[in-house]
Amino acid sequence: MRSFALVSALAAVSAVQAGPTKRASITSVTTKGNAFFVGDDRFYIRGVDYQPGGSAANVDPLADKKICEPDIEKFKKLGVNVVRVYSTDNSLDHTDCMNALSDAGIYVVLDANNPLYSINRENPGPSYNAAYLQSVFATIDAFIKFDNTLGFFSGNEVIHDNKSTTLAARYVKATTRDMRQYIRARGYRHALVGYSAADVTDNRMQTAAYFNCGTDDERSDFFAFNDYSWCSSDFVTSGWDKKVQSFSGYGLPIFLSEYGCNANVRDFGEVNALMSDKMTSVYSGGLLYEYTYEENKYGIVNITTGRANLAGPRVELDEFAAFAKALKNNPAPTGTGGYNPSATSQPCPTKDTNWIVETTLLPALPDGAKKFLTEGAGKGPGLKGAGSQNAGGSSTTDAAPGSGTSGVTAGAAAGTSSKAAGVSLMAPLDKAPFIISGIVAFFTLAGAFAL
Ligand SMILES: *[C@@H]1O[C@H](CO)[C@@H](O)[C@H](O)[C@H]1NC(C)=O
Ligand SMILES: *[C@@H]1O[C@H](CO)[C@@H](O)[C@H](O)[C@H]1NC(C)=O
Repeated sequence: MRSFALVSALAAVSAVQAGPTKRASITSVTTKGNAFFVGDDRFYIRGVDYQPGGSAANVDPLADKKICEPDIEKFKKLGVNVVRVYSTDNSLDHTDCMNALSDAGIYVVLDANNPLYSINRENPGPSYNAAYLQSVFATIDAFIKFDNTLGFFSGNEVIHDNKSTTLAARYVKATTRDMRQYIRARGYRHALVGYSAADVTDNRMQTAAYFNCGTDDERSDFFAFNDYSWCSSDFVTSGWDKKVQSFSGYGLPIFLSEYGCNANVRDFGEVNALMSDKMTSVYSGGLLYEYTYEENKYGIVNITTGRANLAGPRVELDEFAAFAKALKNNPAPTGTGGYNPSATSQPCPTKDTNWIVETTLLPALPDGAKKFLTEGAGKGPGLKGAGSQNAGGSSTTDAAPGSGTSGVTAGAAAGTSSKAAGVSLMAPLDKAPFIISGIVAFFTLAGAFAL
């Protein structure tokens, strides 16, 4: 018995030593000028938007390996290198899925907000508060430890075609500033932070300029937008040629955080354009909307058990093979792609009929959120709870430009989050495509004339 016990103990020791295989490391994505890099190599986003169950499910697919593991096999088969994840629960552990993605060479860019914890575009000031930032910062804590976290979206389509929504831009930009400051203050590596914009003709360029103007602490690391204007057409018909012209000289890396108009059967010609020298000096790839097939009919994989069981069987739809083929036939270009290494900031947009933001000053970090910079955010609220939009403890003053680079004051007054009772959610952030089509614009105009 004794010798048996010894042998078992030895076996156990060697099992422990042989057990955890050393993980292959993945190099984090950085920026230089208007491009992304992995080490010295330019990096292009060749990805897919990943939201199983759709926005209505609001499920974190990275917290459950029964969901992510079968999908990672599909991602490998597709040949994508980035997935965007809209819903993540900052109270849960993501090690299994993030490591499995890393092993597959896949990066993640994720939305730092969710329907309950977000900026309310219809009443943005009060929703920019300590409870909101606590959730955002807790999401950073949950993911920045994984080297394959490419970065975070500080907002999604908060600014819309209604010009009054441009007033929310200050709060999204303040959130961007705060996220970047939090990452520095906590001594984390430099993960990237930027905004995911709706593609609105009336404010597209102002929005882009706004997120790249001012002091360096106030600028983003990248700018992304959701573009549904290429409907199985071509570079010129889609108007993408004009957009490349408009964005040439822009000082941040740009990518499409959603693309894939499905008005016609999709052939994913967008991939050819995005990987060609027609676009690479200005754009750094994009993410196809989207991986799973939902009511809005954009998906390329059907989870046949639907929302009731997101771990159920996956069936590849015809577009799966078409998208894989588009990626295979259009590899990322080698060389620099003509990027601009010395891209810089630009003047802030001025007020006009479409952009009604009065000031370039940003609201100051709410007092109740200052302590997170020194103490950390603590446990995240997850995707449930009281929500933050009416939690109180919002910003009471504007910040001096540049103050986000330093000036960390410890032990500031706690936010008055006790006012959270009676949350009434207005306009949570949409996680479904918001499409401004020329046809709608035409009929609106025609309708106005008909009056
Ligand atoms: C635009 O937004 C404002 C503020 O949220 C709202 O009061 C107004 O009704 C909206 N206008 C339209 C046309 O939706
Ligand atoms: C997805 O699977 C369900 C269950 O088999 C089926 O009813 C539905 O039609 C499928 N959707 C598509 C687009 O194939």
